[in-house]
Amino acid sequence: MKTFIANLPKAELHLHIEGSFEPELMFKIAQRNHIKIPYNSVSAIEEAYKFNCLQDFLNIYYQGAGVLVTEQDFYDLTYSYLQKCADQNVRHTEIMFDPQTHTDRGVAFETVINGISNACEDAKTKLNVSSLLIMSYLRHLSEDAAFKTLKQSLPFKDKIKAIGLDSSEKGNPPSKFKNVFEASVKEGYIPLAHAGEEGAADYVWEAIDLLGIKRIDHGNNALQDEKLVQEIIQRDIALTVCPLSNTALRVVDDLKNHPLKKMMDLGLKVTVNSDDPAYFGGQVNKNYEAIQEALNLSKNDLYQLAKNSFQYSLSEENKKQEYLNELDIFYNNNK
Ligand code: HPA
Ligand code: ZN
Repeated sequence: MKTFIANLPKAELHLHIEGSFEPELMFKIAQRNHIKIPYNSVSAIEEAYKFNCLQDFLNIYYQGAGVLVTEQDFYDLTYSYLQKCADQNVRHTEIMFDPQTHTDRGVAFETVINGISNACEDAKTKLNVSSLLIMSYLRHLSEDAAFKTLKQSLPFKDKIKAIGLDSSEKGNPPSKFKNVFEASVKEGYIPLAHAGEEGAADYVWEAIDLLGIKRIDHGNNALQDEKLVQEIIQRDIALTVCPLSNTALRVVDDLKNHPLKKMMDLGLKVTVNSDDPAYFGGQVNKNYEAIQEALNLSKNDLYQLAKNSFQYSLSEENKKQEYLNELDIFYNNNK
C-alpha cells in the first residue's frame, strides 16, 4: 500500500503555504532576517506543536509566519513545498495563502504574491507540478479588512484563481463575509471556504447558501445534518478532508473514528489533504497512509480519492482530463 500511495498520481486541494513551513527552513529564514524565534531545538518545537484546538495551533502558526519578510522568503517557502509535491507524485496543487498575516506586519501584498507565484511558475517547468493560488481571508478579522485585501489583490488578479476563508471558525460565521465574497466573485474569483471544522452544520449551510462556495474545506460537521449532506451531494460540492489535521486539532479523537469512509459511503465527494503539513505530522502521502491503515481502505478507495482530487480541482478541463487519464493508466497497471 505504501508504494501504491507513493506512486498514485494525485492533487492536493487543501494546503496553507504558511503551514508548510518546516522548522529547518524557519530557522534559516529567521536567522537571515535577524528575527528571534522562541525555539532553539527540535524538542522545543515538538513541545510547542501539541495542540488542544484550532486556536492553539493558529497562535503558533501566525508566530512562525512572522519570520517571512522578503520575496525570496516566500519563494523559498513555496518552492520547498512544491519539491515535496514532486517527491510524492502530487501532480497538481491548489495553494492557500493568507495575505493579511503578512500585510498586517508591513509586508507588501506584492512581495507575498510575487514570491509565491514565481516559485509556482518555476515548479511548473522544473518539477512538472502544476499549481494555482487561493487567496484566503482571515475570518477573525473584519469584513472591511477583507475588502481591503480584495482591493490590494486586483493588480495581481491573473495570478489568483480563488478566494478562501480560514482562521478561527467559532464565532466568525460565513455570513460575516457575505458582501466581500459577492464582490470577489464579481472580480472573477471562485469562492471556497473552511466550514464545519469546529463550527457546526449551520456554518456549512451559510457557506453554501450565502457565500455560494464551490468546495468545502474540512466539512466534517456537515454529517450532523442529513438534509445538508443531501444538499452537498446534489450540488456536487466536494469536501477537502485533512485526516492528520483533524487528530492534531482534536476535531476527531482517533483516526479509527474518522468519518472519511462514512462520507464516501454516503456519496460525498471527498479528497485527502495535508492542511498544514509542517505542524500536523505529515505531508499528503502520510495522510493517505494513515487513513488507509486506520480505516482499512482498499486500493479502489484510494483511487476514488485521487480521482476526486483531480475531478474537483479548479484546473482547466483539458488539464484535468490529462491527469485523470494518467491516474487511470496507473490504476489499471497497479490494482
Ligand atoms: N483551519 C482554519 N484556519 C487555518 C487552518 C485550519 O485548519 N490552517 C491554517 N489556517
Ligand atoms: Zn485549512
